[in-house]
Amino acid sequence: MKFVDWHYIIMKITLSIIKADIGSIGGHIKPSQKLLETVKNYIKKKGKKLIIDHYVGHTGDDIAILTTHRQGVLSQPIHKLCWQAFLEGTKVAKKQGLYGAGQDLLKETFSGNVKGMGPAVAELEFEERPAEPFLMFAADKTEPGAFNLPLYLSFADPMYNPGLMLSPQIKKGFKWVIMDVAYTKADKVITLVSPEDSYDIAALLRDNGRFVVEAIYSRESEERIVSVSTTRLHNIAGRYVGKDDPVMLARTQRDFPATGEILAPYTIGHYVAGFMRGSHTGPLMPVKKNSSISFFDGPPVVNCLAFCVRNGKMTEPADVFDHPYWDWVRDKVSQKAEEIRKQGFSGAAMLPMSELEYTGIVETLKKLEKRFKIRK
Ligand code: F6R
Ligand code: MG
Ligand code: MG
Repeated sequence: MKFVDWHYIIMKITLSIIKADIGSIGGHIKPSQKLLETVKNYIKKKGKKLIIDHYVGHTGDDIAILTTHRQGVLSQPIHKLCWQAFLEGTKVAKKQGLYGAGQDLLKETFSGNVKGMGPAVAELEFEERPAEPFLMFAADKTEPGAFNLPLYLSFADPMYNPGLMLSPQIKKGFKWVIMDVAYTKADKVITLVSPEDSYDIAALLRDNGRFVVEAIYSRESEERIVSVSTTRLHNIAGRYVGKDDPVMLARTQRDFPATGEILAPYTIGHYVAGFMRGSHTGPLMPVKKNSSISFFDGPPVVNCLAFCVRNGKMTEPADVFDHPYWDWVRDKVSQKAEEIRKQGFSGAAMLPMSELEYTGIVETLKKLEKRFKIRK
């Protein structure tokens, strides 16, 4: 037994991203430098004996802490470390008068792990391959379902992933774990496999607000390749407290899709829910590291950092959307934003009533209902 434990502890590595909005400058733009430094320093100092390596960055108003360690997923000490770092940051956010200080820390006391407490979490535990490339995604002003379409195209469509035709390992397909996030009593998940179930997978993934990819596994090696955060903040708080701004981890290459195959769908700038007041439709713009938010409290943005990891030690990040190709994509996406913004509140530009998180409109409808008359 002892040997097994030792073996387990030595061999496996865990990547954990824990992300929260704990306050930002000028509305929902970006955290202050001081806030970012406070979180970074806390992790560096207090995580010394616990973690192997770390990276702290921001995407719009959200701060993401990436750690590598050998504690496994949902580890209490790791989650607590990040929770405390966010609490420490919140003190600074309050002192600086930042907007929305401590906004995503929805519970008073820490219990076990941060799932269901506000911050978004994505974790992967695995035995390192001799070369271990992975991607860290973080999106702002949108929701976890924003990753549905890109994942479908990268893992189930040979138009975006030629590996599905060219690699015997990738051709074996993938196992998908999809969560129904509308169910709030417990985790409600379904497991499907591609290619056999790919039309059923599409039938679920078309509804970004309800069905969210939680994990993808290789059918060749049975290893977990992808983890996405599945938090729906309003289900935790029982009221609107901001969009759920998701994070994702994806391992790449060899038996898994290539980095470029995972990135390919972000050229679309597909329309997602979020944008101003978390209540509109906007195109998802791939942006550079530590980008801020601007036009119409948006547009919805996603950034992606590539790393390699060896014995838990990470390289510096490579900023994959920092490339001339993506400048062109950003121009295209701005145009898509402009087109949908022209129609203001009308039809597809604003989210359906069921998704409108501001109670204001619900109150208005209630009031107006009384003034409707049924013609005889
Ligand atoms: C997401 C985000 C938005 C806001 C939303 C509410 O990062 O910033 O979803 O949370 O616009 O903003 P307030 O609380 O200022 O009304
Ligand atoms: Mg926010
Ligand atoms: Mg945010």
